[in-house]
Amino acid sequence: LTISWDTNRSSKGGYPFYMEKEIMEQPEVIAETIEPRIKDGIPDFAEDEIPDSLLKDCDRVCVVACGTAMHAGLVGKALLQSLVRIHIDVELASEFMYTDTIVDEKTLVIAISQSGETIDTLEALKYAKRNGAKTLSIVNVRGASIARESEYVIYTNAGPEIAVASTKAYTTQLAVLYLLTGRMAYVRGIYDAGRAREFARELLRVPQVVAQVLDRREEIHYIARGILNAKDVFMIGRGLDHSILLEGSLKLKEVSYIHSEAYASGELKHGTIALITEDTPVVAVVTQDKVQSKEFSNIREVQSRGAEVILLMKETYTLDKGTSWAGIFKLPAMRDEFMVMPASAALQLLAYYVSLDKGLDVDKPRNLAKVVTVE
Ligand code: G6P
Repeated sequence: LTISWDTNRSSKGGYPFYMEKEIMEQPEVIAETIEPRIKDGIPDFAEDEIPDSLLKDCDRVCVVACGTAMHAGLVGKALLQSLVRIHIDVELASEFMYTDTIVDEKTLVIAISQSGETIDTLEALKYAKRNGAKTLSIVNVRGASIARESEYVIYTNAGPEIAVASTKAYTTQLAVLYLLTGRMAYVRGIYDAGRAREFARELLRVPQVVAQVLDRREEIHYIARGILNAKDVFMIGRGLDHSILLEGSLKLKEVSYIHSEAYASGELKHGTIALITEDTPVVAVVTQDKVQSKEFSNIREVQSRGAEVILLMKETYTLDKGTSWAGIFKLPAMRDEFMVMPASAALQLLAYYVSLDKGLDVDKPRNLAKVVTVE
């Protein structure tokens, strides 16, 4: 599969910052990552030369990555675990070797990296190979070290990502993880062709649904004012909502310098709720049917401690009358496992607008590097 990079993607194209441009490019680059990999309606990696045996014969998956790429891995874990029913761990690449992680020839180690040059991820991959694991990488930069070091590679088609804070690389990594989930479920006999096609059809809707969120970006800009002057922000959600909030929180920290923490809602009462006051805005994401009532009850707990809550929720949910919100953004509905995509776009915009309105150098946050080649 050869896709050349469009040089227009290296300029700001009329946007004040690369980060905004890269957020706005997502519908296009997600489509470019997904569409070539759907054949006869089913996710297919034949052009990436990924044999089905690689996805069929492993009895365990282990993701290694750093930063945003690690957060993509956490979403992949939730997807593969619930839809493919395979055991999967996500390890911080920098910890992988030093915690003597157990991998063997039945383990598929997946390294995720935008740059393909992060030294910790590269070293973790080498460790996996030395221990006999099969290796697959999900990389954005063609021919990068991590791609060369792994047996198999799937490239995301995000194009060059210039802003230090990663956005389109993350969502295209997620797109590949959805494709892998669909293909694995199919080749392992969990999905028949009909269900695999149904899964792929929903995946193909993602670019258009993300575009709907981006079209309403001024609504998010307005809501972002609620956290502009905050010192601390908490982000709460359960399951997939929690996984994407870890990334949403990292994004906010990186570009706005506001201290922010993502918490699994159910864990709040085991300590963190002590920090909730009327000066601590809370961002809550509610998109998963099976936990929505629990999520709303956790939200009521923080509201009763005076917290102002910004709510991002699936548009089909109804709210109790009489509750006041610091902001509400209704996310276009998809099948639950795909809600990650519109919600992630909304969280990226939230972080972006806080940084923009604070007058910060959005694309070059202090102390951060785009590519980390020291351990
Ligand atoms: C740096 C970047 C992050 C990125 C991480 C991993 O810290 O600032 O945005 O998520 O490295 O980079 P990689 O290229 O391996 O995805």
